[in-house]
Formats: sequence, C-alpha cells, structure tokens
Amino acid sequence: MRAGLTKTGQKELYSKYFYDDLGTALFEAITLLPEYGLTRADLRLLSKHAGELAERVRHLSVVAELGSGSGEKAYRILPHFARGAGLTYCPIDLSGAALIRCQRDLDDIPDLTIVPIQDSYIDGLASATKLRRAGTSILVLFLGSSIGNFEPPVAEGFLETVRHNLRPGDVLLLSTDLVKDLDRMLAAYNDALGVTAAFNLNLLRRINRELGAAFDLGRFRHEARYNEIAQRIEMHLRSTADQAASINSQLRVELQSGETIWTESSYKFRTDQVRVMSDRAGFDCEVQWVDREWPFAQSVLRAR
Ligand code: AVI
Repeated sequence: MRAGLTKTGQKELYSKYFYDDLGTALFEAITLLPEYGLTRADLRLLSKHAGELAERVRHLSVVAELGSGSGEKAYRILPHFARGAGLTYCPIDLSGAALIRCQRDLDDIPDLTIVPIQDSYIDGLASATKLRRAGTSILVLFLGSSIGNFEPPVAEGFLETVRHNLRPGDVLLLSTDLVKDLDRMLAAYNDALGVTAAFNLNLLRRINRELGAAFDLGRFRHEARYNEIAQRIEMHLRSTADQAASINSQLRVELQSGETIWTESSYKFRTDQVRVMSDRAGFDCEVQWVDREWPFAQSVLRAR
C-alpha cells in the first residue's frame, strides 16, 4: 500500500484489498444490481450446461472452486455430479464467513462431502488436489470473471500454476466477461444506486479503520472508465481537492485536486483470446459457452 500511494505518476492500490467483510458484502450487492450482468450470465450458463459438463468430466472425485463465496454457483451444478459417486467439493476462499455459509447452504446435496479450505487460490488448490482418489479426475471452477482482475501476464502465469497443480485430463471451467457495448460495460461499474461507488470508497475507509489513516471520504469521487486499447474497465478514486492524509503517523499521502488512485482493472475478453491464453498455459479448450443476453463466456479447458 505504501508503494502504491507514494508512487510518482499514477497512484494505485491493489484491488484484492477491497474484500474485507464490508467490501465482500458490497460486492455481493453489486452482483444483484440490474446493471451488473456478469453474475446472472454465469448462473444462466451453469444451469443450461450443467448436464453437458457432467458428461465431460466423468470419474470425478474432487470439485475445487477458487473464490467460492457462498457457493451459489456450484449449487447449480454439483447435484448433476454427486449422484452416488462419493464426490468432494472444496470451496476455497479467504473469507471464513463465506465458507460457513457455503457449507450450510450446500448441505442438502446428497452424496456430497464438503471440505472448506480457507486459503489463497493456489495454496487452497494444492490442498484440494490431495483429496483426489486414485484413478479419478478433478474439476476446478474459476468463475465470475475474476481472472479479469489480473494483469494479462499475471493471468497467464496464474493459469500455468493451476495447470501445474493438475494432471492431464483434469478440467478447468473458466468464466470470462466479454467485450460488449461501451454503455453496458460502463453502467456495470457505475450503477445508479451508487453501490459500486461505495465498494470503491470502502477501500479508503478500510485503510482508515485498519491502519489508522485519516482519508476524508467526502473528498473523493468514484470513477469508472473503459480503456479500449487495453480492453479493461479501470476504477479510480478521484480526489476533489488538494489534500493530504497521514497513515498512522508513519506515512503522509498527498493528492492534488483531480488526481486519482487507480484501484481496479477488470479486463474484458474475446473468446479467441481466452483460447490462446489457455493454450499457452497447457490447456485444450474443448468448448466455449456464450450467454447471448450478457456477452459472457465459460470455457471448458482440459489439461494436456
Ligand atoms: C470480482 N470481479 C470479477 C469484479 C469485476 O467485475 O471485476 C469486481 C467488481 N468491481 C466492481 N464491480 C465488481
């Protein structure tokens, strides 16, 4: 945080810091907004293709979900896999509260063992793969277009690391939001109710609360813009005055009026870009399902 806020040029903060308990709740509210079509598209695709997915991933012993949240998405597909097979579902999340909800909400799926893992994506995946039964395969779910919050080289490196934790024949189901009309993309990150603005501003509130900083939230404005060349939505917090805030009397951050702190990138994809990226990471793309209502893709990626 110190490095990002004292940078010359564009100041920035990591978007992973959004997700304290309040930030997580605000994100869940975002997924319900009429302007934010991503989550509903993901859920529609899961409901529509659950049967086909189950056909493609036979002899499954483990389903690991990276960033499961409360498990709402997995709930759409797990009943198709579980039937008598002794399946283990490993929701992986940093939020203990989400994992407790997940275990409670998925409890009614018969023949399913739930092993929640409170850890980062990759360490959690490494633990989940240890639960594989001999001669069976693993399905990894990485949904919500969370991969879009990584810079492209990081996204590719991440897919490679996922691949290294798998064996040939295992499957990764990857969701990606697609490039669409500018107005729809912008509205998704600039909703009329101001929930995304609150989500963005909560980052400063979190720094105030947890690090004893004194940012004046009233002197920042949420901003979302689309960078067409980079194919990404960028979220910023724009300072509306010349101001300075001290953090725990150790660090003084100065902002000029109009200056911004870049808080998130959310990359948008074309389906062929997803295929190329997955191929480089060691996966064959077997099929891509696209939601027509809100252009959004799920790619079934088989580890080579
Ligand atoms: C979690 N992630 C995929 C969301 C996104 O769309 O990039 C986070 C988000 N930021 C603003 N609204 C939602």
